[in-house]
Amino acid sequence: MSQLRRALVTGATQGVGLVLARWLAVAGWQLVLTSRREEVVTAVAAELSANTRVIPCPGDIANPAYRWQLDTAVAALGGLDLVIHCAAYTDVDGCARDPQRAYRINALGTQNVTLACLEFGAEMVHISTNEVFAGDCPAGYEEWMPLNPVNAYGRSRPQPSFMCVTTSATFTLCVPPGCMHKMGRNFIHAILRQARQNGRLHVVADEVGSPTAAADLAAAILQLVAARQFGVYHFVKT
Ligand SMILES: NC(=O)c1ccc[n+]([C@@H]2O[C@H](COP(=O)([O-])OP(=O)(O)OC[C@H]3O[C@@H](n4cnc5c(N)ncnc54)[C@H](OP(=O)(O)O)[C@@H]3O)[C@@H](O)[C@H]2O)c1
Repeated sequence: MSQLRRALVTGATQGVGLVLARWLAVAGWQLVLTSRREEVVTAVAAELSANTRVIPCPGDIANPAYRWQLDTAVAALGGLDLVIHCAAYTDVDGCARDPQRAYRINALGTQNVTLACLEFGAEMVHISTNEVFAGDCPAGYEEWMPLNPVNAYGRSRPQPSFMCVTTSATFTLCVPPGCMHKMGRNFIHAILRQARQNGRLHVVADEVGSPTAAADLAAAILQLVAARQFGVYHFVKT
């Protein structure tokens, strides 16, 4: 990873994006960080600026005009080597209630980020979800299997083939739910909250998951980037 030094991390205020932003900053990468919450992304950028240059670029990726803000922030870095696209509308029930919003953020927002990536000739990591599959294959899904999303969340995610034809150097990771990070929503927090609030649990009984730490996903992403192994990967902690 030695010659790559400038990265855009979208969705860098929590979850996988925040872990990656922290690690890249420690490794000396210059960064543009994004999220809709100006105060939060500015605070994260300030926290990570000790050893390197970190520029916050607050805004909504679904807004077509946001691309020009991204361009300005990236131009201030002097270019871009890598985009790690973590921003997404990740609330599965919210996507079912408002599929149009899901499509705007997850599909059109990704297109917006991809266009910025193309403009600067950067490599791109795009994270997808297991919900692009129907979930009717007990043995699990391999990378070559056809997509068949059964809900609005899955349908809102761009196809890996779209990412591959639009950018020359793309890594798409398909990750099942239950990715754990200390901040924000995660499976453990949800279970603890329900237990505290209701004294008993209501959880789906027709899904099998394998909780994966955000740090493990972040480490896998950086390994792929370092090895420059472009393509589609399914990733889960076993
Ligand atoms: N966590 C999991 O279990 C899991 C499983 C499978 C796949 N994934 C995928 O991995 C990626 C990262 O997941 P995560 O769990 O780390 O996500 P997360 O905790 O929900 O964080 C999402 C990030 O995206 C930003 N964001 C959301 N909507 C945005 C918008 N319209 N414009 C700009 N920024 C926006 C959020 O910041 P603001 O709210 O401040 O804008 C936040 O920083 C996503 O693509 C997700 O689908 C995650």
